[in-house]
Amino acid sequence: MRKKIVAGNWKMNKVHADAINLATEVIGSSYDGSVNLIVIPPAVFVSEITKIAASSKVAVGVQNTSQFEAGAYTGELCTAMIKSVGAQYALVGHSERRAYFNERNEVLAAKVKQVLKDELTPIYCCGEMLEEREKGNHFNLVKTQIKEGLFHLDSSQILNCVIAYEPVWAIGTGVTASSDQAQEMHAFIRELLTDKYGADTAQSISILYGGSCKPSNAKELFLNKDVDGGLIGGASLNTSDFIAIANSF
Ligand code: PGA
Repeated sequence: MRKKIVAGNWKMNKVHADAINLATEVIGSSYDGSVNLIVIPPAVFVSEITKIAASSKVAVGVQNTSQFEAGAYTGELCTAMIKSVGAQYALVGHSERRAYFNERNEVLAAKVKQVLKDELTPIYCCGEMLEEREKGNHFNLVKTQIKEGLFHLDSSQILNCVIAYEPVWAIGTGVTASSDQAQEMHAFIRELLTDKYGADTAQSISILYGGSCKPSNAKELFLNKDVDGGLIGGASLNTSDFIAIANSF
C-alpha cells in the first residue's frame, strides 16, 4: 500500500505569529488518520513548528536545502541542520526554484542525494510549463526531469522518495489539470519508475499532484489510481481548506 500524503507548501508567506497560529490550528485539527499530513513552512519557523507537532502525527518539511554538506555557503541551510530541528521532509526542485533560482536537474540530483544522506525524505517536484504542453513535449520534459534528478539513486534510495507532479501552468493560477491529465502523467511517471526499478518498487512510491488543488477538486483528483495525494500551495494557508483536502480520499 502506498502512503497517502497531503503536504502544504506555505511558500514565502506568513510572519511569525500567523505561522504559529496556522501550524497550531492544523496540528490540532482532526483529519483522516490514514493520511500523512505534512506542513512545509518557511525555514525560519521550522524549529518551533516541529516542537508544536511533536506529539501529533503531523510531519514538518522544508522548502529548500543546500546540495552541499556544510561550510562556507552564505545564506544556505544544509540537511544536517534541518534534520537537527526535527524536520522530516524536504522539497526539491519546486518549479519556483527552477524558474527563479535557476536550479537545474544536475543540482537537484545532488540535493536529492544530500537529503537522503541525512535521512530526510525528498519530495522531488517535476512538471511542464504551458508552452511545453502546447508543443506536445510535456512527457519528454517530465521524463528528463525524472531521469536527471532521480535515476542516479538505487532501489533502496528511490523507495525513500516522494514525487510531486506539478504542471507549472496550474500552480497558483486557479487552473487545475483535469483528473485525466493528472492520471495520465502520474501513470507515465510510474511507468518510468517501473522500467528503471521494477514494478514492486514503482508501485511503492507515492506520486502527488500539485497545482490549484482545492477542496472542490481534490476528491476527483485523488480518486485516480496513480494519484497518491497532493502538494498544496494556496489552499494550505487556510486550515479548513487544507484539512478538507486531507479528508478528500
Ligand atoms: P498552488 O501551489 O496549490 O497554489 O497552485 C502548488 C505548489 O506550488 O506546490
